[in-house]
Amino acid sequence: MCGIVGAVSERDVHGILLEGLRRLEYRGYDSAGMAVRQADGSINRAREVGKVSALADFVEQNPCKGPLGIAHTRWATHGEPSQINAHPHMSGERLAIVHNGIIENYQELREALMAEGFEFTSQTDTEVVVHLIEKEYRVAGNVLQAVRAAIAQLRGAYALAVLHADEPDHLVVCREGSPLVIGVGIGEHFIASDQLALLPVTDRFMFLEEGDLADIRRDGVTIWDREGTPVERVVTRFEHGIDSADKGEFRHYMLKEIYEQPKVIKATMEGRITDRRVLEQALGTGANELLADVRHVQIIACGTSYHAGMVARYWIEELAGIACSVEVASEYRYRKHVIQPDTLFLCISQSGETADTLAALRQAKQAGFRAALAICNVPGSSLVRESDLVIMTHAGPEIGVASTKAFTTQLVSLLIFTLALARHNGLSEEREADIVTALHQLPGQIDDALALDGKIAELSRAFIDKNHSLFLGRGAMYPVAMEGALKLKEISYIHAEAYPAGELKHGPLALVDSEMPVVTVAPNNELLEKLKSNLEEVRARGGELFVFADGDAELKEQPGIHVMQIPGVHSITAPIVYTLPLQLLSYHVAVLKGTDVDQPRNLAKSVTVE
Ligand code: G6P
Repeated sequence: MCGIVGAVSERDVHGILLEGLRRLEYRGYDSAGMAVRQADGSINRAREVGKVSALADFVEQNPCKGPLGIAHTRWATHGEPSQINAHPHMSGERLAIVHNGIIENYQELREALMAEGFEFTSQTDTEVVVHLIEKEYRVAGNVLQAVRAAIAQLRGAYALAVLHADEPDHLVVCREGSPLVIGVGIGEHFIASDQLALLPVTDRFMFLEEGDLADIRRDGVTIWDREGTPVERVVTRFEHGIDSADKGEFRHYMLKEIYEQPKVIKATMEGRITDRRVLEQALGTGANELLADVRHVQIIACGTSYHAGMVARYWIEELAGIACSVEVASEYRYRKHVIQPDTLFLCISQSGETADTLAALRQAKQAGFRAALAICNVPGSSLVRESDLVIMTHAGPEIGVASTKAFTTQLVSLLIFTLALARHNGLSEEREADIVTALHQLPGQIDDALALDGKIAELSRAFIDKNHSLFLGRGAMYPVAMEGALKLKEISYIHAEAYPAGELKHGPLALVDSEMPVVTVAPNNELLEKLKSNLEEVRARGGELFVFADGDAELKEQPGIHVMQIPGVHSITAPIVYTLPLQLLSYHVAVLKGTDVDQPRNLAKSVTVE
């Protein structure tokens, strides 16, 4: 949600902080701020409402320079976006903190601190933390002890970075439920919510674990675990090139990420399939033995990742003949469930830090599942570290808030997983070879789908003055329609609803008129004929249809029916290929509407709070 950056160096760090914030802006972007310890020993704090560029403009006019600093980009949870609520928060003039997460017991702490004379200037839960640390500092006399004492009183999720003007050599940081990474430099160290923020200054990182507290100095880092025992955290190198987080020639990250799909899908398959088979070791050591025992699969995810899980259910039940349930994490974690014996718990998450997904995983680990498998895009994320088995999606950093390449690489990973599982449940070698061949064809087919970009841009004009839209699909194309609708609403702010086409006459048909564009994904599968009659139902009510269909589907362009032909694809991999035109459609509608494509209003890339 919010993004944190910090640096301890010999050089002025304000440029590093600003660049870090720009790179974290995808996490939250309603206000931004920084606090730097200046040469005269004072703290200079700058905070601006709006994007990081507003803060950058401000500090250009009002320099905020020094070798020790913390910075923050905010996505409001407690208190509206305003300068007063923006981070860093201070207690007095000497202590400043930035915080990502939510403090659940902030109300009672706030009342107690007010009774002791602390004055609050914001509506945030974070301000409670800074006053609490100040209170403890008055007793302990040093920041490290003060932070340790303060966090013992907090309930909730947090990553914190703390700076004190009287201790100019270090930052104190900690994490509990929100991500925090330490960047290792030469004679300098950095901290951030995400390693992407620090790529211009280092490629070596240490990931803090839940409950860790760390003292960050120029020449070294000391880390303690939850029990206060000194611990080492391994230093890992960032795998992807630094350019992977740059827009390159593309106008938006989202478009760049859409176009990267042939390449990253190839990367996701690499080393996992031969020309005819899924490799025994594709899912890591021990996975094959485990899959032999699995009788049910429980998939948990949020947002786009949930849609990937919905598609996978069709594959798992069809190819492996194993029962599969899919549920959004925020619902699953708060209800009682019946767990069948030998159920595999499968979490899907691009970031690996989504609060609800992590909470569901942590519950599951106590609940008697056979094992927990994660499908994730971020190495070192909490989900990856806490799962028994992991399939990395190799999509590379995804910056656009609307997820694109993460989704299709999740689907590829899920299909490989399904084949590995199905092999233990009677999938024939021929069927496996047929689907693996279809996987190999994907990069080329996606290139073909991308070639429709210009035509889709034309088609998108029909949407700019519309307020509502319907997306239809059947079978595994229903979740593809859901994902298409999510993309459109996320970035163009047009209300979009997805329906399984067979449900049309049970309600949504009442909404259909010439003002309601209806988008349909129609590969040439066994449900095509049924889908065609659903389309007739729409046409009969004057609805304008936008159909993405297989060339062989014999759907003809005619008044009120726009047909975009998608080259023929295997029915199993069709959900992956048909996702592309819907991504492009929402992208072009958003560009025409002039919305902020990469950072749509009110949303955040990584939802690390509940
Ligand atoms: C947010 C993002 C979505 C994403 C969802 C789940 O809502 O804006 O793009 O699908 O979180 O995130 P995850 O990282 O768990 O896949």
